[in-house]
Amino acid sequence: MSKLIKPHGSEVLLPLYVEDEKKRENLLAEAKSLKSMVLNSSTASNAVMLAAGYFTPLSGYMNKDNVLNVARNMTMSDGLFWAVPIINLTHNVDNLNEGDDIALLDPNIENNPVLAIQQVTAIEKLSDDELNEIALNIYGTNETAHPGVNSFLSSGKYLVSGDIKVLNYSYFPDDFPETFATATEIRHKLTDAGWSKIVAFQTRNPMHRAHEELCKMALDRLDADGVLIHMVLGKLKKGDIPADIRDSAIRKMAELYFPPNSVMISGFGFDMLFAGPREALLHATFRQNCGCTHLIVGRDHAGVGDYYGAFDAQDIFDKPVVKESLKIEIFAADHTAYSKKLNEVVMMRDVKDHNKEDFVLLSGTKVREMLSRGEQLPEEFARKEVAEILIDYYSNL
Ligand code: ADX
Repeated sequence: MSKLIKPHGSEVLLPLYVEDEKKRENLLAEAKSLKSMVLNSSTASNAVMLAAGYFTPLSGYMNKDNVLNVARNMTMSDGLFWAVPIINLTHNVDNLNEGDDIALLDPNIENNPVLAIQQVTAIEKLSDDELNEIALNIYGTNETAHPGVNSFLSSGKYLVSGDIKVLNYSYFPDDFPETFATATEIRHKLTDAGWSKIVAFQTRNPMHRAHEELCKMALDRLDADGVLIHMVLGKLKKGDIPADIRDSAIRKMAELYFPPNSVMISGFGFDMLFAGPREALLHATFRQNCGCTHLIVGRDHAGVGDYYGAFDAQDIFDKPVVKESLKIEIFAADHTAYSKKLNEVVMMRDVKDHNKEDFVLLSGTKVREMLSRGEQLPEEFARKEVAEILIDYYSNL
């Protein structure tokens, strides 16, 4: 039997979903008499990540001390490494008190059903200076043109912290029954497959040729047992391709172009932050929790616009606190492009004899731009079967 890498900061996964059905029913009944608050989408997606064990060993939303420590030093007050504050930030706390149990309502489902119950241990205000400092540390900018900063700075100033118990996985299991999985389920599947060296691929795109080849190169060069293609199922930014379309495109590509039993396809319920290097660290942490030994980090991982240097998300893994804390390693990939000379996708650093003109540069942004102009995708960009799914989607917009 394969033995998987240990979760972050714990011997076992610590999912916050209440497994016992009777307990869940009792808590749901109790929730009716509790004060309630409708979460913002990002906070709700954090509850789902906590529920599913991805954010082991956290037990709920961070307090101000932890938020500032994580933003500044990437550690909680007790020394645990964590890359991004996991918070319940809100505009109005007039009817809340420390010591309350409150029902957290789901903003992403009609009539806002109860998602979780939180024990409120602290209610603390962040000053404008603190909010700006956190944005600068996490996103590298406090410009509201950045979608992650915009979402963070428009979420309010009050941190409602404390442990949570989660009662469902929001819309993810219904909308993505084949694809949404908890960290626990992924660990089981990896164990069943007998894999132990596993490379994770994070994606928010339908996979174009560069993505496909990155996975194949990682499989090959690491001599890994398999690749976990692990896609974002939560909210992205305007213009990004919806998860169901990406899911179909990825499944088609894996079915037709990967060796059998080398790929596992799954997804997680998280709203993308676009926080570049800091988000790459969070991505690595929760892939370790899934049992993966490696995470592919390529060009501008989790980036947006020109906010980050192309390889900042790789360099951050060299920091001592990261090296000391994470067991998962990265597969650091160079810019991957189509070589007109070799008629294949290559890592640019591997082909020293090439000039700029010998490459066709591939990126998700470029693919989306071409599709939205109604242009065909050349074979260098996307497999024909993948292109068909995407063209079909764009022609019905
Ligand atoms: S992300 O926001 O989820 O990182 P995307 O799905 O485009 O976006 O990328 C997934 C992974 O592939 C990231 O590690 C990214 O760095 C890498 N990647 C995407 N395109 C390229 C490319 N042309 N060259 C190198 N790495 C790439």
